[in-house]
Amino acid sequence: MSNLVILGAQWGDEGKGKITDYLAKKADLVVRYQGGDNAGHTVELGNQKYKLHLVPSGILYNGKSCVIGNGVVVNPTSLVREIKYLNDLGINTDSLMISDRAHIIFPYHIEIDRLEEEMRGEDKIGTTIKGIGPCYRDKVERSGIRMCDYENKEAFETRLRANIRSKNNLIVKYYEGQPLDEELIVHEAMKYMDMISKYITDVNVVMRNAVKEDSKILFEGAQGTLLDIDYGTYPFVTSSHPTTCGIAVGAGISPYRLQKAIGVVKAYTTRVGKGPFVTELHGETGNWIRERGFEYGTTTGRPRRCGWLDMVMLNYSAELNGLSAIALTKLDTLSDLESIKICVAYKLDGEIIDYFPASLETLSRCEPIYIDMPGWHLDDVEKAVTYKDLPENARAYVQKIEELLGLPADIVSVGPKRDQTFMRKDIF
Ligand code: GDP
Ligand code: IMO
Ligand code: MG
Repeated sequence: MSNLVILGAQWGDEGKGKITDYLAKKADLVVRYQGGDNAGHTVELGNQKYKLHLVPSGILYNGKSCVIGNGVVVNPTSLVREIKYLNDLGINTDSLMISDRAHIIFPYHIEIDRLEEEMRGEDKIGTTIKGIGPCYRDKVERSGIRMCDYENKEAFETRLRANIRSKNNLIVKYYEGQPLDEELIVHEAMKYMDMISKYITDVNVVMRNAVKEDSKILFEGAQGTLLDIDYGTYPFVTSSHPTTCGIAVGAGISPYRLQKAIGVVKAYTTRVGKGPFVTELHGETGNWIRERGFEYGTTTGRPRRCGWLDMVMLNYSAELNGLSAIALTKLDTLSDLESIKICVAYKLDGEIIDYFPASLETLSRCEPIYIDMPGWHLDDVEKAVTYKDLPENARAYVQKIEELLGLPADIVSVGPKRDQTFMRKDIF
């Protein structure tokens, strides 16, 4: 297999970073194709936790080529901070490449993100306030500024100044906010662009050569399928395509070259931000899972909403992405519960349905239909050296998911570390 996609099958934070890091050892190239520093991918190696936002998780292997594709929106200040953070931890970032077609996030995107959320009041999306939506909007509106624009610094500055003025107009007149300091934004943008300019390259050429040479490429999704701008729980979504549908356009590879996609699935469901969540647990069990799984956002520190596994949603996700297998994570977190529920269908107005509705109004009227699975103990999970050593009930839970999804769980993860991973089939 020369290329493999790893993406979130739920609402993000499934453990994509951990699985990418696990598989990246064999990869020649690790590529991010969408999202921005709204992503927070945690990889634990020994006693060190690495928190990655823009840089692909493959960077933790010294010298591994890591690509930020054109579909990613890049905040130069965040990227410089992340590179410094990695360098301070002894990680070499010389192998990083940024697409010259990637769009740039400026402070006005962040300010507009914040003001829009404020204006939405009760109906706010709960964005990460990283300027993601406003930057993608400029891209589609054709007023964005790209990495390649920095080749001509003078023209770059002129365009940036024009954008700041037009956004300040909007900020003051429409959002009733305070104008941003033009000189400061320009000064900082030039400083941080200077610092990252050595990484900017024509990623299309890199991808073309990688395909020609049959290099092993790993695509690392950010966010998750249900946060996709088209296929997620709109408008409570992000502004990009975390699904396989976004790879060709976001990484500069023909869709006909893509070979296989693995969906990362958390053994239960979490969501940060607002929007309907059919299997959400509001009481004690939800709180217990949050504490046991340390379900707090990597990027914003917000508590994640927790609930049972939802097979209606996962079947939708598997079909849409064309998944060939899943990587099931955080099985250990569910340990010590007496019984565990899996949602197998929804009840809508007295009828049983097995499809995932597009309308949020309809979705919020859906009630979960559950089956119960018997629990297992953490001690027994911790003792396991191979998949077969896992407690019988834990394996029965995995088997039930495989059965309900019609896909194998080729990877099962029982802890945040690399060695707490069972690869049941050689997939890459
Ligand atoms: P991502 O955004 O999909 O990369 O996921 P996050 O990094 O935001 O959240 C997943 C969290 O769970 C991280 O803190 C991981 O270190 C951790 N993690 C990943 N796999 C496992 C697992 O199997 N068990 C446990 N206990 N933690 C895990
Ligand atoms: P990773 O890659 C979980 C959510 C936000 C909000 C919505 C829109 O770590 O899985 P945005 O700032 O993108 O405009 O916010 O999307 N969101 C995530 N939730 N994991 C993420 O990334 C997310 N990135 C964005 O909470 O609901
Ligand atoms: Mg995350």
